[in-house]
Amino acid sequence: MKYFIVTGSSKGLGESLAKRLMSDGNHVICISRNRNEKLQEMAQKKSVSTDYFEFDLSNTDEIPRLMEEIFNRFKKENIEEVCLINNAGMLSPIKDLHETKPEEVRTNVTLNLIAPMIMTAEFLKMTKTIRSTKKIINISSKASRSPRPQWTCYNSSKAGIDNITQTVAIEQGKADYPVRIISFYPGAMDTAMRKENQKAKPLFKRAVEFIKNVLSTKKPAAHHPDFVAEKLVTHINSNEFGKELFVNLENIE
Ligand SMILES: NC(=O)c1ccc[n+]([C@@H]2O[C@H](COP(=O)([O-])OP(=O)(O)OC[C@H]3O[C@@H](n4cnc5c(N)ncnc54)[C@H](OP(=O)(O)O)[C@@H]3O)[C@@H](O)[C@H]2O)c1
Repeated sequence: MKYFIVTGSSKGLGESLAKRLMSDGNHVICISRNRNEKLQEMAQKKSVSTDYFEFDLSNTDEIPRLMEEIFNRFKKENIEEVCLINNAGMLSPIKDLHETKPEEVRTNVTLNLIAPMIMTAEFLKMTKTIRSTKKIINISSKASRSPRPQWTCYNSSKAGIDNITQTVAIEQGKADYPVRIISFYPGAMDTAMRKENQKAKPLFKRAVEFIKNVLSTKKPAAHHPDFVAEKLVTHINSNEFGKELFVNLENIE
């Protein structure tokens, strides 16, 4: 059995990943605050095994207990592969740092950086003696490398995620049964997060972008998350996985 833990599965990329991963031989563990009934129905229809944890990842003290519960459900003698996808994230606050409240900083960095760091730490502990294939995918963003005004919390958290990827890759180089890890840059996706970003832009700018998109014959400004999920799962299943630490959507065949 291949086990996939997907955070942020109620909508957007996380939902698309969970849908794409629901197939024979896979067991998908979904985590988000809101239960995704569509995923549950799909799992039943396809007769694939899933677990859903309605869990707020900002309760970081509870993450070790959550991970223990997840791993207790695995059939230990039957693990072919185990994979953690740190996908849950948030964009806000979208404002200059001098206008940002301490609580807003804390909320963003807790979800985007501290939670995936603890999830990763627990995953590494729990899988230390498991000899099967082990993978971690941190969903990052190009924003981690390009300073963007009003996005300080998001940019900094994603830069931190990339640092986790690099550091864990070095640490796992010395491990008996190493975990392979990557940061994945999905590019712009048509999700609730993107809508939030669009809404924050001045009306004039939005109108200009809209007209440009309508007139453009080039590739879409944002991909559907199902398209991105398809590409990412192809990469996860390929022999190329882990050779490059930073993987761009555009670089996946
Ligand atoms: N959209 C883009 O253009 C874009 C571009 C580059 C990178 N990314 C990255 O891609 C990933 C997915 O983004 P998306 O666009 O799919 O976002 P989205 O549509 O806003 O979905 C975010 C997911 O995270 C979950 N989540 C939020 N707060 C949570 C919490 N406290 N505890 C548990 N789960 C929580 C949400 O579920 P609940 O609300 O039910 O908890 C939801 O399932 C993120 O890491 C994002 O930074 C997105």
